[in-house]
Order: sequence, then C-alpha cells, then structure tokens
Amino acid sequence: MEVIILPGPEEVGRLGADRVAAVVARNPRAVLGLATGSSPTGIYAELARRVAAGTLDLSGVSGFALDEYVGIPADHPESYSAVIDREVVGPLGLDPARVRVPDGRAADLAAAAEEYDAAIAAAGGVDLQLLGIGTNGHIGFNEPTSSFASRTRIKTLAPRTRTDNARFFASPAEVPTHCLTQGLGTILEARELLLVAQGEGKADAVAAAVEGPLSSMCPASALQLHRRASVVVDEAAASRLR
Ligand code: F6R
Repeated sequence: MEVIILPGPEEVGRLGADRVAAVVARNPRAVLGLATGSSPTGIYAELARRVAAGTLDLSGVSGFALDEYVGIPADHPESYSAVIDREVVGPLGLDPARVRVPDGRAADLAAAAEEYDAAIAAAGGVDLQLLGIGTNGHIGFNEPTSSFASRTRIKTLAPRTRTDNARFFASPAEVPTHCLTQGLGTILEARELLLVAQGEGKADAVAAAVEGPLSSMCPASALQLHRRASVVVDEAAASRLR
C-alpha cells in the first residue's frame, strides 16, 4: 500500500484528479468507481475545472457509485443518485447513460445488488475506485464486521455512520437505516484503489486502516490486500500514523 501525506485538502484533491486523469489518458473509456460524501468533493471540483478548461474529456468514461441509501425518495437531494447527478455527472461532463448507482428503491433489493455486481463485470470491471473512509473505518458502507469477501448487498448502517451523516439531513431521524453497498470483495476487484481522507476526525480510522491488523473490525484495512492501493491524506488525517 502506498501512503501519500500532503499539506491539506486542496493538494489531496489535485493529486486525486491527477490519478483519474492518468487512467483516462490511458483509456478514454475507463470505468471509474465513484464515492460520495465530503472526501472526494475536492477531486470532483478539480476534475470539473479541467473539464471546463478543455484540458480533460471524461465523456467516454463509465461510472459505478459505491452505495445508495435504501428507501430514500427518488427526489431527495441527499440520495446518492441525486448527489452523483449533481456533483459528478453534470460538472464532469459524464454521459448519464454510462453512470449507475445501486437501486435503493428496488422491490427486490437482493436481486438489484446481484445485478449491480453483474453490471460492473459486464463493463469490464472498475479501473480506478475512489474511496473515502468512515470514522469507524468503513469503506463504501461496509461497516465493521463486514466480510472481506462480501459482494454488493443490503447493509444496516452503523449508529456512528448515521450520526456522522446526519449533517446531510434535516434531522438525525431522517438518515436512512439501511443501504445497498458494493462489498469489500467487489471493491477489491477494482484494478486500482485510491482512498482519500482529510481532517483530524479521520486520523484514527486512517491509522487503523494503514498500520492496524488486517481486520473486519476496520473494513478499510482490506486495502492492505490490494496490489495497487493508494491512501492519500492530508497532514491532519495522517496525524496518528506512526
Ligand atoms: C460514500 C461512502 C462512504 C464515505 C465515508 C466518508 O459513497 O461510500 O464510505 O466515503 O462515509 O464520508 P465523508 O467523505 O462524507 O466523510
């Protein structure tokens, strides 16, 4: 695992954008794994700047989101499908027909999850998977105790995750209780992983993922198993690394 420590969030965003641009330069029809939440917003903002400046073209790229809340109304602004449309597809000039988010409103969630893994495989697999990390060490919504072999499936959100994500909702009670998330096994199949974290609040989780034992209690420690995993953090998020 490669660990890169940078002064602040802006540098993290720029390096993340460089990695995406490098993958797309090699293959304009690359498949990106898309994270939501606060962590990748600097990467998306920097990519959007390059697209607007005409120095980067992402129109041939495909994207698969990591996760989606179960049962969230389709028009809710914090559904990950709405976030991906608003913060990724539009600003980055992606083709909406090539971007998918797990269907958290499917009548048969287990079937939707299985079909999602099949769609990733049919697209040729993910070339570069962007990841954030939860304060409890989750990646995607693979909460502690998730199996390293897990596939896309329904998960119950940990109380800590619901508390952390309450900032996106009108009240903590409004945060959904369940999600569909790519599994750790699904994520590990991506050809390259890029986890980004900023701020002191992530320092314990980053230290556990990078220096702790390989453990399902810290799902992000699964990155230690991957041949091409990079952890790009600012100084605050790196502050508990030895
Ligand atoms: C989001 C996701 C989550 C977040 C994590 C960190 O698609 O899969 O794992 O990356 O909860 O969230 P932020 O970035 O908001 O701190």
